[in-house]
Amino acid sequence: MKSIEWIGNALRILDQSKLPVELVYRDATSYESVAEAIERMEVRGAPAIGAAAAYGFALGAFEYKGSKADLSSYMDVVQARLAATRPTAVNLFWALRRMEDRLRECWDIEDLDEVRRLLLEEAHRIAEDDRRMNRLIGEYGNEIVPEKANILTHCNAGALATVEYGTALGVVRKAYEAGKEIHVYADETRPYMQGARLTALELHRDKIPVTLIADNMAGYLMQQGKVDLVIVGADRIAANGDTANKIGTYSVAVLAQAHGIPFYVAAPTSTIDLKVATGQEIPIEQRPAKEIQEFCGVAVAPGEVNVYNPAFDVTPAKYITGIITEKGIVVAPYSVNLLKLMVRP
Ligand code: MRU
Repeated sequence: MKSIEWIGNALRILDQSKLPVELVYRDATSYESVAEAIERMEVRGAPAIGAAAAYGFALGAFEYKGSKADLSSYMDVVQARLAATRPTAVNLFWALRRMEDRLRECWDIEDLDEVRRLLLEEAHRIAEDDRRMNRLIGEYGNEIVPEKANILTHCNAGALATVEYGTALGVVRKAYEAGKEIHVYADETRPYMQGARLTALELHRDKIPVTLIADNMAGYLMQQGKVDLVIVGADRIAANGDTANKIGTYSVAVLAQAHGIPFYVAAPTSTIDLKVATGQEIPIEQRPAKEIQEFCGVAVAPGEVNVYNPAFDVTPAKYITGIITEKGIVVAPYSVNLLKLMVRP
């Protein structure tokens, strides 16, 4: 199952909002359709959103019919539209900045088709970098996975959330490929159910032992000694190590610390945002009330009741045992070590 794939002149997107019931692919041929797919969470997960937006940027250039002189102002509109889709995952802005830089480097090229070709090439490079980074995250992460382990994860940080392989699930995959006796507890991840709909599906398809649990069961499992390790993904990591990830991650981190269980974040360096000093500065997306009032389209609460539905929370760095990246595992003090990591080639 590939989250996104460039085929011919289109970005093929696996519509994750329909999983696990239906396997539906859509071919996006315009930047607007990519933006809408991100908004509708047909493509979701920080690295996948970034790569999809990069292809959306390239599609914008292919759609452009004007002169070279006006390309820049047109691409500003394309970039702004894609950037306005979802606010929390920094990979979106990271990928768009890479595309913007590439466009700027094309300034002296008069042939618009050549500019388009170079932009598409950059989008392919972003996708390829993500594949490579996930494999490396898997390699480094495997070092902290015991020969026999019950690993708890939250949300979906797998192949579906990336271009391929996954971050948190990349570590799980690598450990499994290495012959370790691992088993995963997947939090269902209310209210959008990424754990049930996507993580359980991915692992089950790959024959990696997985048990689905409701979110409120994690503490009980830990108390029973059934969890050896927690690994989650990330949407944005602040300069001090505070990490935004799917709502509920913070509760799992606090529980893990209370039970003396290591809690790891797995993420590529494209998720690290040194421009935000602490997690308090990370914008948190608010989602529609319907996601909580209804379950699969069926009302589970009175329609008039007040609802609060933040899509992400921030886990303070003090709860994080280590951050697994493609350049190695970073531990506290994060303010010093993340900076060192980011300047390292
Ligand atoms: O709202 P989503 O499904 O886009 O949220 C996804 C997550 O929170 C993931 O854990 C995160 O993006 C890491 S994906 C490798």
